[in-house]
This record gives sequence, C-alpha cells and structure tokens, in this order.
Amino acid sequence: MTTKSNLEGTVLSGMRPTGDLHIGHFEGVLRNWVELQENYDCFYFVADLHAVTTETDTRQLRRNTLEMVKDWLAFGIDPNKSTIFVQSYVPEHSELAVILERLINIGALERMPTFKAYVEHLAGDRRVKVPVSESSKETRELHGDERLEFIASSEVSTGFLTYPVLQAADILLYNTTHVPVGEDQLPHIELTREIARKFNRQYGELMVVPDALLSEAKRVRGIDGRKMSKSYGNEISPRHTTTEITEKVNRILTYRKRLTDLGDPFECPVYDLQKIFNKKEDLEILQDCRNASIRCYDCKMKLPDKISAVYEEYRAKRATISDDDVMQILVAGNLKARKVTSQKLDETKRFMLMNYLEEGRK
Ligand code: TRP
Repeated sequence: MTTKSNLEGTVLSGMRPTGDLHIGHFEGVLRNWVELQENYDCFYFVADLHAVTTETDTRQLRRNTLEMVKDWLAFGIDPNKSTIFVQSYVPEHSELAVILERLINIGALERMPTFKAYVEHLAGDRRVKVPVSESSKETRELHGDERLEFIASSEVSTGFLTYPVLQAADILLYNTTHVPVGEDQLPHIELTREIARKFNRQYGELMVVPDALLSEAKRVRGIDGRKMSKSYGNEISPRHTTTEITEKVNRILTYRKRLTDLGDPFECPVYDLQKIFNKKEDLEILQDCRNASIRCYDCKMKLPDKISAVYEEYRAKRATISDDDVMQILVAGNLKARKVTSQKLDETKRFMLMNYLEEGRK
C-alpha cells in the first residue's frame, strides 16, 4: 500500500450512477482512476446529487449505485487505497455549494457549454410557439436563441444550472490538486479554479486551485457510430460473453462497401476498439484498412476474444461482490470523507466570519 508521504497530490472524481457501466466508461475513465491510486490520495464518489438534476425518477438510484460501485471495485478501485463514497451522504457538498453560489453570476452558468448542449438536446427539433401577448390567443413561433432561452427557462431545473457550482464544491472540499475528467468537463474545472481564486481573494487563501487531468482521449463509439450509451442500446459491455461481443461487434456499421474500397480507420468505430484492444497490431490494422487489404469482417473478428480476455478477471471478481459488501465500503468511505469535509467547511466559515454562533457553544 502507498504511504501518504510519497503521494503526488489529491485526486477526486465523481460519476453519476447510471447503473451498469460499458466499455467506454471502463477504458475512458476507470482504467485511469485505477492507475492514479498508486500515486495520489484518491477520492471517488457516486455523484447522485448531480444525477437528480436531470433524472427525476429516484427509484433506480439505490440499484444503480450498487451496480456501478461493484464495477469500480471489480475493476480495481481499492477501498484500502481510495476513499469511495456517496455524495448525498456528505452534506458538506450541498452546504459549500450554496455558499459558493454567491461567487458566480447566472450568466457564467448559462454560458457553460454543458448547459447549452443539454438545452439543445432537450429542444431537439421541436417547434416552440408562445402567445403573442398575455391576453391573446394568437401565437408566434420562436427561433434561434429565443427558442432555446424559452426551453431553458421553462424546462431546465435550477439544480442543473448550478450543477457546475456543486461540482466546484465537490472538488474544493478535499483540497483536490488533480481532477481526472474528460474534455467536456474542462469548463467546469475552469469555473472551479475561478471560484477558488475569487474565494481566496475575498476571504483569504484557503482554497486549493485544482488542475484538470485530461486522460488520453479514448473515444469509444457505440456499434451504430454514435456516442456509446446504454440509452442508445449501442454499447458493448464487459459483462457480455464472447458470443455476445462477437454478435455486437459484427453489427458495427462500417463504411467500406466493397473489399476494394479504401478505408478511413479514424472514421470507423471498429478502429476505436482496435486502438484499445489490439494495441500491438494497431498500426498494421490501420494500414490494412487504408490499403483495403483486410475485410471489415476479418478486422472485426480480431476483437471479441481480446475484449473478453481483458475483462476476465473483472467478471470473476464482480461475481464475488455482494450488495452488502458495497454498502459496508460506502458507509466506511463516507465516514472518512466527512472527516475531511467537516473540517474544510468549518474553516470556510471561519474565513468568511460565518462562525459567529461558535460563541454560544462555549
Ligand atoms: N460532472 C461530472 C460528469 O458528468 C461528474 C462529477 C461530478 C465530477 N462532480 C465531480 C467529476 C467532481 C469530477 C469532479 O462526468
């Protein structure tokens, strides 16, 4: 086990509980988390408060949390090295978020690319019509920014708007030095840095300004070429059998129609997988695809055994982890997390001169 003295800093990251994870999560995020445990004091948490800003149905939260944390543990997140906890059970996250909200104006949050993307996703290609005036039955159609602003103000929760501030609280509570995230999250880390600096200027040097740790971008598209997601049904799961993986891989849409068509590997979701699971051969495959000297089917069939083998240990270990094991680990992790956060929140209040009721406790 690593001792604290030789660690390079504190890492924190969270994942929304979406239930079973697919290989995009494993290769894009979790592999990195596992490696970081060797050199950093790591905090990994279930971002359930973040999940409920968009997922209003809370009935799946418990199950999804348990399944997700089982995946973490089976893949090598080690509770003896890392602190694993549930966000909503560490109330300091919510409390610090409310305090930090005063440092950020609404506009900065409305301009977040994640906010805009979500509003656009909600809007889809729906037409939006509003009455021309309050008393009128006549309507007019909204376009462009006006349409998106209308959808944002009537369909997006305040919780989603302030999501990046909660994320800043997550990070600042633990004196986090490094935050491993994907590219889409960089604006949130930038906002966190801004909040930390503002706080330090106004109230004194308390907050550690964190750095983002961008993992080598591993794009893993689903079998239909869109972003891999269980909700699209285009995912490959590490829990699949080799036969199931073969069937899924075989269905991947490739672009070459005839054997003689030259391929463009970077356009092809199969190549996303080759880069990860056939690393040794990956340049050869790239060439073969470009020269059309390999059939797409043969290219695909290089994958199933490899993918299955990578997750063999994970599958065996996962079968031995019970719900109760996970609960115990989370309860212990939450206690550890709160030791850090309660102290940090107390300090925050002291810096802000918001600890004045302390007198009454003497
Ligand atoms: N917003 C992150 C995501 O959607 C999840 C998250 C919440 C997070 N809090 C965090 C990541 C703090 C890093 C640090 O992926």
